[in-house]
Amino acid sequence: MNLFDVYPVNDITIARAEGEYVWDDMGNQYLDFYGGHAVISIGHSHPHWKQRIKDQLDRVAFYSNSVKIPLQSELAEKLGRLSDKEDYQLFLCNSGAEANENAMKVASFHTGRKKVISFSKAFHGRTSLAVAVTDNPSIQAPVNDVENVIRLPFNDEDALREEMSRRGNEVAAIIVEGIQGVGGIRIAGASFLKLIRELCDQYGTVFIADEVQCGYGRSGKFFFTDHAEVEADIYSMAKGMGNGFPVAGIAIHPKIHAKHFMLGTTFGGSHLACAAALGVLEVLEKEQLIDHAAQAGAYLTDRLKEIPDLNNVRGKGLMIGFEVPPELKMLRKNLLFKHHIFTGEAKPDIIRLLPPLSITTEQIDILIEAIIAEISFLKQNGVETLSISS
Ligand SMILES: Cc1ncc(COP(=O)(O)O)c(C=O)c1O
Repeated sequence: MNLFDVYPVNDITIARAEGEYVWDDMGNQYLDFYGGHAVISIGHSHPHWKQRIKDQLDRVAFYSNSVKIPLQSELAEKLGRLSDKEDYQLFLCNSGAEANENAMKVASFHTGRKKVISFSKAFHGRTSLAVAVTDNPSIQAPVNDVENVIRLPFNDEDALREEMSRRGNEVAAIIVEGIQGVGGIRIAGASFLKLIRELCDQYGTVFIADEVQCGYGRSGKFFFTDHAEVEADIYSMAKGMGNGFPVAGIAIHPKIHAKHFMLGTTFGGSHLACAAALGVLEVLEKEQLIDHAAQAGAYLTDRLKEIPDLNNVRGKGLMIGFEVPPELKMLRKNLLFKHHIFTGEAKPDIIRLLPPLSITTEQIDILIEAIIAEISFLKQNGVETLSISS
């Protein structure tokens, strides 16, 4: 059997990972400013996280949600405390798309309404409703074309106000990423988020903060919406939650009531997933990685802004993006294959930085020196890249 060929991959096989570094099968070391797509929060293969999973594996890895799983309550309690959402309720699932799918279902059950507002350049996942609210027709199959999605321009307060005044009473949910990731590190303004809160209160609509990428400490606060001092009704979480172990969830406001069988999943909230997620929270707390992400992110942003060839450096905490002019379009590939530094991208010309929250000042300096050296090389040699076989 062949693999279903849906991923354009780099010709690199990762054989080992530790902290902020990965190594390929030929022993080359790479600095990871991509975090496997914002997933690595506490650092690759963190010893405490590994031990938590190993210990749990020796006891019980999985039993279904038909029995009590005290680890789920332990996780909910710790997550509630660290995110300052102690009165919220946790539903556990397996991926970001699934988290958003469930968030929108809960909103629809709660309000009895059908419509969802999402925004231009949004990415919320690839399952049916999540992809329907995603602004990318190329990943929507014909069956995903539903009539209940209203797409408005991101950060456009007038458009949102107008739409809600017209049919706010039909809108079950407004779903928004605090920082759009796939959309190219575009930040929701504080007043935009405050307006969403206000309108949701006015019309009884559910405010869903998609914190799958920007949440879990990456922005320098637990949730990105905390920067705007705005509370959402549902927070969806995934990537950083398991540090690579597939675990996701939604935190749901106490005004929304659960009913048996309203949601469900076979694998979500397994013993092993909870142990991994608890391991992550314990390290986030002990190593104060959220404060560290704020400080390291500010340092990284300042250093990037010193480089005149990089345009529009923006972001919050360790979720940073900048535009690369056409003559430097090989920058990202060359950082990877010549300097052995992973970064992310957003089409068409944006480099995204999503390192582990444990990234150090010294490692940031390594990236900055590599960018400066590579820009100077590309300016002298045109858009040519070196052989990528090294
Ligand atoms: C903001 C956001 N929401 C949802 C998703 C979907 O997550 P998953 O790929 O785990 O389904 C992503 C993935 O990149 C994302 O960035």
